[in-house]
Amino acid sequence: MTQWRKFSVSIFLICLLEFVFWAYCTVSAAGAAEEMYMVKGIETFKNAASLVERTSNENNLKEADIHHHGLGLFANTAIDGHNGVGRLGVWIAVAAQELMAHPYEFYQMLKFKFFYKVPDFPKNLSEADIYSYKKLVKVSRSFAAVIAELPEDLRRPIANFYLVLRGLDTVEDDMSIPLEKKMPELRSFYKHLYEKGWNVSGYGDNADERDLLERFHYVVDVFLDLKPAYQQVIADITRRMGEGMAKYAGEKTVVTLEDYNEYCHYVAGLVGIGLSQMFAASGLESEKFGQMDELANSMGLFLQKTNITRDYLEDVTAVNPRIFYPKDIWGKYAKNIGDLKEPENKEQALQCLNEMVTNAMAHINDCLDYMMLLTHPNVFKFCGLPQAMAIATLARIYNNYDVFKREVKIRKGEAVQIMMYGGNYETIISYFVQYIKELEDKIPESDPNAEKMRHYIAVARARIAKGRGRQQ
Ligand SMILES: *[C@@H]1O[C@H](CO)[C@@H](O)[C@H](O)[C@H]1NC(C)=O
Ligand SMILES: *[C@@H]1O[C@H](CO)[C@@H](O)[C@H](O)[C@H]1NC(C)=O
Ligand SMILES: *[C@@H]1O[C@H](CO)[C@@H](O)[C@H](O)[C@H]1NC(C)=O
Repeated sequence: MTQWRKFSVSIFLICLLEFVFWAYCTVSAAGAAEEMYMVKGIETFKNAASLVERTSNENNLKEADIHHHGLGLFANTAIDGHNGVGRLGVWIAVAAQELMAHPYEFYQMLKFKFFYKVPDFPKNLSEADIYSYKKLVKVSRSFAAVIAELPEDLRRPIANFYLVLRGLDTVEDDMSIPLEKKMPELRSFYKHLYEKGWNVSGYGDNADERDLLERFHYVVDVFLDLKPAYQQVIADITRRMGEGMAKYAGEKTVVTLEDYNEYCHYVAGLVGIGLSQMFAASGLESEKFGQMDELANSMGLFLQKTNITRDYLEDVTAVNPRIFYPKDIWGKYAKNIGDLKEPENKEQALQCLNEMVTNAMAHINDCLDYMMLLTHPNVFKFCGLPQAMAIATLARIYNNYDVFKREVKIRKGEAVQIMMYGGNYETIISYFVQYIKELEDKIPESDPNAEKMRHYIAVARARIAKGRGRQQ
């Protein structure tokens, strides 16, 4: 071998080694990014690292958690969970992009791995904030991801809003709390927001939720530190939601279409209304968003009805079955709602399912209207991603008998794709176009609600063709 060839081979081997090592670092960093993603507000690597240093003792953070900075894109894919097919491939692809886009950060990451010394930690992120952001990532990855990209003005209040409602929801979902205790607790839950130091132990079906309520004083701390305008929205929505949940916690069940809309309003429409008021209060969107209750409510209903329709089997077969399908709909197709999952009722089951999907589609025009009024790109993304997931889910479950046999979800790949590339107006609208087409292609000729479904599809297409409601 000539000197020259030896030299080239060595260079090649060094590059290969470098690549393998780099891939290893980025992949471990991607895992860490999930945890750290919410702390993106801390803008420098140094600060992120020191934050970890500070919190690692109390929270057992892994050392790898420190590889945070500049990993937003990684986190987006990492959020999808730990079992996605091809996840490693996506990471490496994204990591390659990241490296090219931010070589300096990569250098920092390596440097950190070997030469890290404890720097000063940020002085202005409180323990309560750290707890809140970490908790958010734990209890809702998908939500944490979109929230992380909001401007700081909205990120903190909306994260707080989510945790407050999650606390309320934990009380509602805990079937071990006797009703005579649960109802007043739901109704007065909002008052705890003004009780500094308030927490409660023993509520919640899983460890994360129990912990949230046990350390609710952190959530209260952040709440009390928010602008009064945000506090008012959060407290008001929590009060109204608690009221509604109490109403449906007892004897009352979802029977009529009005009940269905009312229940969904309490648990999801109100969230839409509250968020809208917060957008207005932040000044990032127009003041009109404070009074767009009707459209904002539809945004929530579209998501909630999609989930209720999808979750038939889970809800019907739960230890404490909870029926959210309105009897006005399922009653047309079966004597008992549980009968729909029996193979001999397949035809009726599909018609019932299709009517539920069609009912959700009634909100699509409002959702498009609402989204087209948004002007801030990150607020748009925050609102649009869940909507895109919902329309994808509706297209998946429509006329799909699997809903009665197993859990049905959109493909991991689809979810990742929507999360990663679905952030702007054009992509979100293109998802709507795509999934509306899929729905249309699945309409069975004989379906009693076929005409209605075609109508909603035509309305949505017309809305999309008309374009944005306002110039940017
Ligand atoms: C923390 O301090 C930085 C710079 O001093 C500032 O930009 C940021 O808004 C502060 N964050 C909070 C939560 O106070
Ligand atoms: C709950 O609040 C009390 C009183 O504010 C406090 O002493 C206690 O440490 C809190 N519980 C937890 C688990 O932090
Ligand atoms: C609907 O289900 C998805 C996935 O399970 C979840 O992330 C989302 O929070 C749910 N949305 C509503 C409004 O319940």
